[in-house]
Amino acid sequence: MTELLSIILAAGEGTRMRSTTPKVLHAVGGLSVIGHVLRTSKTMQGQIAVVVGPNHEAVENTVAAIAPTATIARQVERLGTGHAVRQAKAAYEAAAGNVIVLYADTPLVTAATMGEIVRRLDGGADIVVVGFRPNDPTGYGRLLTEGDRVRAIREHRDASEAERLIDLCNSGIMGFRADALRSVIDRIGNSNAKGEYYLTDAVELAQGDGKRVDYVVADADEVIGVDDRTKLSIAEATFQDLRRADFMKAGVTLKDPKSVWFSYDTEIASDVTIEPNVVFGPGVVIEQGAVIHAFSHIEGAHIGRKASVGPFARLRPEADLGEDVKVGNFVEVKKAKIGRGAKISHLSYIGDATIGAEVNIGAGVITVNYDGYNKYQTIIGDNAFIGSNSSLVAPVTIGDGALVASGSVITEDVEADALALGRARQAVKPGRAKEIFAKAAAKKQSKKG
Ligand code: UD1
Repeated sequence: MTELLSIILAAGEGTRMRSTTPKVLHAVGGLSVIGHVLRTSKTMQGQIAVVVGPNHEAVENTVAAIAPTATIARQVERLGTGHAVRQAKAAYEAAAGNVIVLYADTPLVTAATMGEIVRRLDGGADIVVVGFRPNDPTGYGRLLTEGDRVRAIREHRDASEAERLIDLCNSGIMGFRADALRSVIDRIGNSNAKGEYYLTDAVELAQGDGKRVDYVVADADEVIGVDDRTKLSIAEATFQDLRRADFMKAGVTLKDPKSVWFSYDTEIASDVTIEPNVVFGPGVVIEQGAVIHAFSHIEGAHIGRKASVGPFARLRPEADLGEDVKVGNFVEVKKAKIGRGAKISHLSYIGDATIGAEVNIGAGVITVNYDGYNKYQTIIGDNAFIGSNSSLVAPVTIGDGALVASGSVITEDVEADALALGRARQAVKPGRAKEIFAKAAAKKQSKKG
């Protein structure tokens, strides 16, 4: 395969987002917009260079976290897309094969489109432009085509009335043979309506040199640029619809697909059923045959085979549910390993815990894991039974097969097969209730009189 360099332009200001967060760090499907572009570029297995603006340290950190081998170039003055690409000179000077220029604010571009660009370049094109047909072409560069070739790209502001009638627009994503890019990039000028160095002028310059410029047409949904909150929401909706369709194709039942929200990295095996109104944060893996009941919120969790979660369950990071585990309504699980067949059916908080196989956790049981400063572990052995409304004050260990009486506050370890009671002994005083009520009634009567 020909070597590939992806240059990702991320130096834009993003003022229309009206945000203190740089535009490319807003999230779609739980991952930053630039994160999507980086991940897709990574699947192409080439080099990556990212052009960032000044004072965009947070963007640089995100790039380093997602694509540690990517190089960063800084564009101090924002003088246009052509100028932005020039900042990555060190990368494209060294490039031997193909170069694809991508926008960091266009998160849904696919590896299939990038692959098609490479195919065209390897097939003899010097430049490949990715076009699309938006509902409203206003503001976009127009592709001036002749048969299968692109003669020029005309920016909206510089276009004639006739050119503005063209509906085939420039998505901004362009592929170059590395030598073709090097031969035109320094010749791009800035005598245009915006006084910017337009990367799009590369097309006309290359044409003048007798080079071949192809175009491919992408779906408008795929090349949407996220530059305001409305487009962010449209990108999110498109992303979610794609994920839903993928999962259903892979054998996952979604009872009401539109109401289930996935993250970019959600992994679900076949024959999992997901009821309506379920939200997945990042880092979730679900094994075959599990059922997620309605209104559950799940992030950073592993859910074993045939486990049952919800309705109204909350699984937080490092919740690890074994096979056949049941986590029922109004149960919160965090950083806890739950053994095979264990049941936590109602109204519990289980955090910083290891729970053995076939354990039964009664309604309202709480692991008391925090003293205001530190977190402590609760360990429960196999087949133990924790009575309803008990507090397990960590650090504490309950042995295999132990029985904790309902309503206990357990502060000391319980050995295997022991019964532990940690509550006041019950006292019953015959007739006493009647006396108390009578006294109270008399008091009320005397106030009235
Ligand atoms: C650009 C294209 C236009 C296309 C449109 C698609 C040019 C001259 N025009 O228009 O044909 O239809 O995208 O959305 O290329 N950027 C930098 N540094 C700069 C300028 C831009 O990094 O100095 C980055 C931005 O962060 C953004 C991308 O390049 O990711 C596009 O910039 P933007 O200003 O949105 O492009 P337009 O001028 O609207």
